[in-house]
Formats: sequence, C-alpha cells, structure tokens
Amino acid sequence: MELRSAALAALGQETWQAKAAWLAQLNSQTELNTQHALFASSGIPGRPAITLVPPAQLGLRSVHTLKGRALLIHALAHIEFNAINLALDVLWRFAKMPSKFYYDWLSVAQEECEHFRLLNQHLQTLGYQYGDFSGHDGLWEMAERTQDDVLARLALVPRTLEARGLDASPAVKHKLASGGDRVGAAIIDIILRDEIGHVAIGNYWFRWLCVERKLDPIATYAELAQTYRAPKLKGPFNIEARLAAGFEPTEIALL
Ligand SMILES: [Fe+2]
Ligand SMILES: [Fe+2]
Repeated sequence: MELRSAALAALGQETWQAKAAWLAQLNSQTELNTQHALFASSGIPGRPAITLVPPAQLGLRSVHTLKGRALLIHALAHIEFNAINLALDVLWRFAKMPSKFYYDWLSVAQEECEHFRLLNQHLQTLGYQYGDFSGHDGLWEMAERTQDDVLARLALVPRTLEARGLDASPAVKHKLASGGDRVGAAIIDIILRDEIGHVAIGNYWFRWLCVERKLDPIATYAELAQTYRAPKLKGPFNIEARLAAGFEPTEIALL
C-alpha cells in the first residue's frame, strides 16, 4: 500500500483501533508517491459518534472529583483523536512536498495515536470511555479552513493550535497532580515531550515553504493568522518548550 493512500484510508476509519491498525503497517520504508492528487470521499474524518458542542459547553469542573478528572482526561483524549486525523490529513491532502515531509507526518500520526491510547486507557480505569462526554470541533474546523494551502495548514495547526498545547501543558499537569492523578500527570509529560517534536516538524516545514516561496516567515505568519482567524493566544507561554520546538526568540516576543 502506498503511504498517502493509506493515510486517506486510515483517516476514513471510525475507530481509533482501526486507525491504529493502518498506522501499524506503515513505516519509513513504505512506498510513497509524492505527486499524485488524491480525492476524499465524503466520509472524512472518520470518528466515533460523539456529541459536538461549543468549547464553553464541555462541562469541565473540579479535578477533585472522579467525574471532573474523567471530563478533563476525556477532553484531552478528544484532542488527541483529532490530532491523529489532522496528521493523516496532511499526509494525503498536500502533494508535491519532499518525501521526508510525509514520513515526518507519519511519525506524528503514530505518536498521536499512542497519546490517544494512553489517555483512553486511563479514562477506562476511571470508569469511562471515549464518547461518554461531548467534545468540540475546533481542531477539525481549522483543518477544513486551511485545506487549500499547506503553508496555511502548517501556520495554523502545528504552529498555532499544537503550540498552544505546549503552553497549556504545565497547568494541566499541575491540575491533575493536585487532584491526586499521578498517572494522568505522567501521561502529560509524555505528550509534552512528543508535542515539542510535532511543533518542531511544523516549524521546519513552514520555514522550508517560506524559503521556496520567497516569503518572510514572521510577516507571513502574521498575515495567515489574520486571514484564517487564528485564536488569540493567551499566556502564560511555555517559553522553554517553544524554544525547544524551534520558535525564534523574535517570534516568541511577538506573542
Ligand atoms: Fe498528541
Ligand atoms: Fe501533536
């Protein structure tokens, strides 16, 4: 099976197990056609039936109750489920990039799948499973908004939304730890380590495209953030993680 076609097939699968089964068959030796234009049927993204609501209606509450912790873990699992779909979408949708681009996003998709697995497993030990609560659709909406241009996708998804995850990570970890959830806090450490890598991949390819198109990365990001209505980022920012993920000090100063 060819990598980008396989990614499209995996994106259409409804369950994470089915996506994981596809991803387990793919690696850096998998055949790749960087040139062909693929077309999605109406069935993307595949996902379980989960009630989608605006973010404000997620019902998050104190982590000092079991249900409050489960709601938070569920919200994180929902983000990771979407992140699997987002990485798969980059793979199939955008043709004519160098081979390494696709293998980079394959490794991202595989790590997102592992993040989901860890969170879902933890959720089950709390007596719940993915789909028991509602989720919001902000991540996939941004994927749709940026479907026509790989530069916009990289600016808005890894460099904005995933980078926002780096900022949120310390507070989420603290919240879980203060509620006595050491397993949950340890999962956040794993996710943060991997997410620095995902944002770094986003930064690398964003800059690579800016060189190709003779664009200034800082001015281009500002324009794209405005055109595609990037969410306004709020501090505190995780400066250490952002630097490790390859943001320039000048870019961090502009936040
Ligand atoms: Fe993730
Ligand atoms: Fe990620």
